[in-house]
Amino acid sequence: MNAILTPLPWDSAQLGLPCSRLDWEPPVQARPHDTWPDEWLPDELLTAMATALHDAAHTALVVGKLPAGLCEPSAMQAVLPGWRVQMLGVEVVHHRPASASGVRGTRDARGDRDDRDDVTLYAGTADPTPFLPLAWDMLYSRYHLDPEISTTRAAALWEASITDHCQGFAQETAVATLGGRPAGIATLHLDPETVRLHIVGVLAWARGQGVGRRLLEAVIARHGHQRSLLVEAHAENRAAAALYGAVGCRPLRRYDVLHFRNLTFTM
Ligand SMILES: CC(C)(COP(=O)(O)OP(=O)(O)OC[C@H]1O[C@@H](n2cnc3c(N)ncnc32)[C@H](O)[C@@H]1OP(=O)(O)O)[C@@H](O)C(=O)NCCC(=O)NCCS
Repeated sequence: MNAILTPLPWDSAQLGLPCSRLDWEPPVQARPHDTWPDEWLPDELLTAMATALHDAAHTALVVGKLPAGLCEPSAMQAVLPGWRVQMLGVEVVHHRPASASGVRGTRDARGDRDDRDDVTLYAGTADPTPFLPLAWDMLYSRYHLDPEISTTRAAALWEASITDHCQGFAQETAVATLGGRPAGIATLHLDPETVRLHIVGVLAWARGQGVGRRLLEAVIARHGHQRSLLVEAHAENRAAAALYGAVGCRPLRRYDVLHFRNLTFTM
């Protein structure tokens, strides 16, 4: 097993620091979903990680995702003396297999929903403006969870991310309305077999009224018969887990999310 560092230009520009991602070879994506973690041995992983980070003087912040519970943060810290290891919690990958049927148990209209309310899937660009306040609500993201990134900086980063996704970074953007107003958003990345949701959010005033569920039902109605659905959420984000469970997703795998800070880095 090898660990390699892949630069993250977007994160670097947003945070004003050279950032990289810790990747593994062979890549995780090439392995069957339900078998890859068993092959990983903690000692091999620690050695590969230490080797990759040893000469990374050019990188200030490295993000890594490892199978949950495989390596203790203290064991990582012991092999990375020039780095501060920050455990940011566990991320769950939720998965819904492709299926011909839609979501079972779909609810009738709730809350303030009216006849104008629907979900629109934009293939090009969508207006990000109504959804920028979500930037302050992505509290379970690694940017908001990292104590060395200020809340203002994390929110600015999310505002940029929401804007970029709506302006073409996502292949499709689903927008749901409630009472005729934009209320929820999901951004989609598509390949022939999967649809990955990156940003999922419902504005605070519209939560708990079925908007998230309508959004995902629309995505599944459009893509779910030929593509499986993948979406990641922090293990403590109960609202997200309930939403994904309600539309037929099941937890597929769990990662520890880590930030490694280079203590010797100078700009
Ligand atoms: C997660 C989020 C998108 C849910 O949207 P929502 O419109 O409030 O969800 P819905 O009203 O459609 O509820 C969907 C299901 O989840 C359940 N649910 C929603 N919020 C919940 C909560 N806080 N706790 C427990 N269950 C919850 C509902 O009961 C519902 O289940 P049911 O249809 O079987 O009754 C919303 O809370 C949000 O935007 N949070 C902040 C951003 C965020 O964390 N996004 C997810 C990133 S992975």
